Amino acid sequence: MTQTIAIIGGTGLTELNGLTMHDVHDMHTPYGAVSTPILEGSFGGARLLFLSRHGRPHKIPPHKINYRANVWALKELGTTDVIAVNAVGGITSRMATRAICIPDQIIDYTYDRDHTFYDGSDGKVVHVDLSYPYTEALRSQLVEAARLAGLPAINGGVYGATQGPRLETAAEVTRMERDGCDIVGMTGMPEAALARELKMGYACLSLVVNPAAGKSKGVITIKEIEAALASGMTDVRAILAAYMERFAGK
Ligand code: HPA
Repeated sequence: MTQTIAIIGGTGLTELNGLTMHDVHDMHTPYGAVSTPILEGSFGGARLLFLSRHGRPHKIPPHKINYRANVWALKELGTTDVIAVNAVGGITSRMATRAICIPDQIIDYTYDRDHTFYDGSDGKVVHVDLSYPYTEALRSQLVEAARLAGLPAINGGVYGATQGPRLETAAEVTRMERDGCDIVGMTGMPEAALARELKMGYACLSLVVNPAAGKSKGVITIKEIEAALASGMTDVRAILAAYMERFAGK
């Protein structure tokens, strides 16, 4: 089977420059509109798709993203593996601003999102295993790609997915830390579960752009987030390029 890699870009990564994308897919899905038309290119022996999760320009807040439409459209286009990029807050001390984490677990604190393709509307009850929400082989390749790019990533960590769009309270972050979360973001779920339901590989590159609420002296400012995003996404792009070079279509 030809590998088709889909990159879902998050905040700070609405475009993939440097790669020639020769097709644009304006997808219509049974679940409604996709965040943006999906771009297609190729690299080595692999097909590459790119979808900007928040729209292009960035205009869809995390709780309004149509995760089902996005994931369904990627599957429909033949995606075998999804690399999801997201910006997160750092909870535990190893998750300093500008660190890149490749998480291995998730806790879902989101609510009111359309979070499954198996919603019972067709009279079927399906329970999908999500013990290990990220695909281990893909995770290891991303860890290796980061090493090759000279930007070692943190291998493993628990992603706490919150509803947003507001940031958390300090007490919520303390509770999340007690729960075992290392990072906090608003887009990790239901995306990972939906990818599993449609049997695609899925792993995340999570860029830490601020200390989570209560983890630094002051309040969280958009200015600090934007500064970390600007420099950190350059690192994320380098890791993606190293991944494509080393692993795509191999
Ligand atoms: N909390 C939730 N989502 C985020 C944060 C945060 O601190 N930073 C970037 N995305």
